[in-house]
Amino acid sequence: MDRSYLEHIETGLRSAIESRELAPPIDEAARYAVLGGGKRLRPILTLQSCVLAGGTPADALPAAVSLELIHAFSLIHDDLPALDDDDIRRGRPTVHRAFNQTTAILTGDSLQCIAAEVALESPRNASSILSEILSASRLMIDGQSYDTEGVFRPDMIQEESRLRLIHRLKTSALIQAACRCGALAAEADQKVFDHLDRFGAAVGLMFQIVDDVLDETQTTEHLGKTSGKDRDAGKRTFPGIIGLEQSRAEITRLAESARDELKSMDGDADPLRELVDFLAFRTN
Ligand code: IPE
Ligand code: IPE
Ligand code: MG
Ligand code: MG
Ligand code: MG
Repeated sequence: MDRSYLEHIETGLRSAIESRELAPPIDEAARYAVLGGGKRLRPILTLQSCVLAGGTPADALPAAVSLELIHAFSLIHDDLPALDDDDIRRGRPTVHRAFNQTTAILTGDSLQCIAAEVALESPRNASSILSEILSASRLMIDGQSYDTEGVFRPDMIQEESRLRLIHRLKTSALIQAACRCGALAAEADQKVFDHLDRFGAAVGLMFQIVDDVLDETQTTEHLGKTSGKDRDAGKRTFPGIIGLEQSRAEITRLAESARDELKSMDGDADPLRELVDFLAFRTN
């Protein structure tokens, strides 16, 4: 992957936080949550989708930064005692542990507002991009609500379709929006937009199935977040419902259908093809 993308993203994130006078201790907590690492998958997808659709990285940077801010907000709230009650994130104490719950809740709220402000700085299609990001954020919250609603029943046949819905909402919506926003930032034609849209949906679902598998198969030290957490909490997960082997087969199938969307796009789509492989085989 082009390293300069990551530099653009880190600079954009830093400036989004530091150019605003946030009230203490939200200012410090926002820097802690946003600038403390992470794979930056969503902003990378936005920039790569935009370039593939004929735009420049600068066209999509506000959308990319905005989506990563929504993601950071989702992680802070996901880790709260009222949701997953996690103590470790990216190898460090979670925000409510490093600060306190009040600060964690308010920092998440603030990041969502900053994300909206930043999306409006998009040079092209700013209002459509903002609308995409807010809808995806709302869907993510719906997914989080379903995800926390209670223990699943392994004997119930409809559990798998319920789980697919939850994963599409809590994780895939934002990843799909990352691709859609890249296309919007480039003013892509409808055909390219539709390919990137379906690509994002496949990668997004695949991403959460991999996350479920890693929760079962990796250590806390390697993941930088608590492993075995889903099973202990009685969460619906792909390995819990269809087993590890079938989950891996589903990851392969979704990676294949993501690559299929890029078939008509020659070598320009190679960075996205490489990203699919990286995400399918990642171990943390
Ligand atoms: C974790 O997302 C939450 C999920 C939606 C599975 P990431 O795995 O992208 O987290 P970071 O940003 O790299 O820490
Ligand atoms: C995350 O799902 C979905 C979000 C919207 C943050 P998880 O709860 O599985 O994410 P991790 O495993 O804590 O990163
Ligand atoms: Mg969760
Ligand atoms: Mg969690
Ligand atoms: Mg998880």
